[in-house]
Amino acid sequence: MDKFIVRGGNRLRGSIQISGAKNATLELMPAALLAPGTYSLRNTPNIRDVWTMSRLLGSMGIHAELNDGELFLDTRNLTSQEAPYEHVKKMRASIHVLGPLVARYGYAKVSLPGGCAWGPRPIDLHLKGLERLGAEIELDSGYIIARAERLKGTTITLDVSSVGATFNLMAAATLAEGKTIIVNAAMEPEVTAAGRFLQKMGAEIEGLGTSGITICGVTDLMPSDETTIPDRIETATLLAGVAMTGGEVTLQGTNPYHLSFIIERLEEAGCELDVNTNEIVLRAPDQLKPVSITTAIYPGFPTDMQAQWTAMMACAKGVSTITEKIYTDRFSHVPELARLGCDVEVHENRVIIKGGKSLKGATVMSTDLRGSVAMVLAGLIAEGETDVLRIYHLDRGYERLEDKLRSLGADIVREKTEEF
Ligand code: UD1
Repeated sequence: MDKFIVRGGNRLRGSIQISGAKNATLELMPAALLAPGTYSLRNTPNIRDVWTMSRLLGSMGIHAELNDGELFLDTRNLTSQEAPYEHVKKMRASIHVLGPLVARYGYAKVSLPGGCAWGPRPIDLHLKGLERLGAEIELDSGYIIARAERLKGTTITLDVSSVGATFNLMAAATLAEGKTIIVNAAMEPEVTAAGRFLQKMGAEIEGLGTSGITICGVTDLMPSDETTIPDRIETATLLAGVAMTGGEVTLQGTNPYHLSFIIERLEEAGCELDVNTNEIVLRAPDQLKPVSITTAIYPGFPTDMQAQWTAMMACAKGVSTITEKIYTDRFSHVPELARLGCDVEVHENRVIIKGGKSLKGATVMSTDLRGSVAMVLAGLIAEGETDVLRIYHLDRGYERLEDKLRSLGADIVREKTEEF
């Protein structure tokens, strides 16, 4: 197992290239199941979740190879329509193969994902939506089994605007007979990116980026190449790190339009930002101001930035609150931040931070991806050495994070540990 050793105190300065979006890639890859053929997905991040999705697709007979950010996929020889537990347990986004498989092959057997580090994450909307499209769904020995001759278009109203359910249902509806309308669809840029990819493959989709998506089913799709959109959460994480360390950094190859809400909150915290078409420059103030946030669906404040914002607010002078509305118990990072000296408390789904206390390095870990990166950010400003354990969580979603931070002046190294 690897850990990071971070020695705090250095300001981040310089410029850095943002990687492709994890969550977009995890929709583009399963979308390729809809049309047998070969694909080149450029700007694919080299992260663990992409390896897991590659292995999962590999277990179905699909060849996946990542070289220098270009992911080559060959979906011509599918040998199985089954997503086994051994892969699904590592990554919930494995559920994204369900819609494409049942739409294209009329059958899918996908392990139920189970719980995760921050409580139950249901998939009822995926299953109800597929049933409305005419699939027969059965749950057997921990597996979802979905069958359909050909799916039939219908109206599906999602109780909650779910990213994964919107993807699964939109992808499935591309090959259904007739028209499907998804009401209360997710508007996240990653869903829109997947929809655009499906359009390039020949799908007829309208309303992408709005809460109403209409899909007119076609009989066949064809393979297409694609360039993955930039990772808005990686961008925002690095912006928070620069803000915390009092630095000045240019982030290149990003999409500021996907980050407008966070950019505004960073400005409220006292940061100066120059925003260009695909570049953001952030200059941090001498002292950050507290800014309270509430997580929400896009374009609101993303739950995937909640832990990092908590770490950042520990540096602001004054009290702020973080209210989590998407995953109401996503707080495994909070007690660990407290171990570094943050004055932080959880009350139901709200964190209260009394910022401005000096942090001191310690050994910490988190049980999820964003919580882990929040520890690294806190380590950047803590006095002395912070050891962040179990960074395989972080490696799921950040490409070469230590190299990127080091190139900006951070003192951070990766080391192997004996810990199990
Ligand atoms: C995706 C992202 C994840 C992000 C999350 C919320 C990927 C691979 N992951 O996860 O990083 O944190 O969006 O922005 O893209 N819900 C139900 N029933 C369902 C499905 C979801 O009640 O069937 C609820 C969830 O409990 C949650 C809300 O809907 O409260 C949003 O979850 P959802 O958008 O589905 O998250 P994911 O797609 O799993």
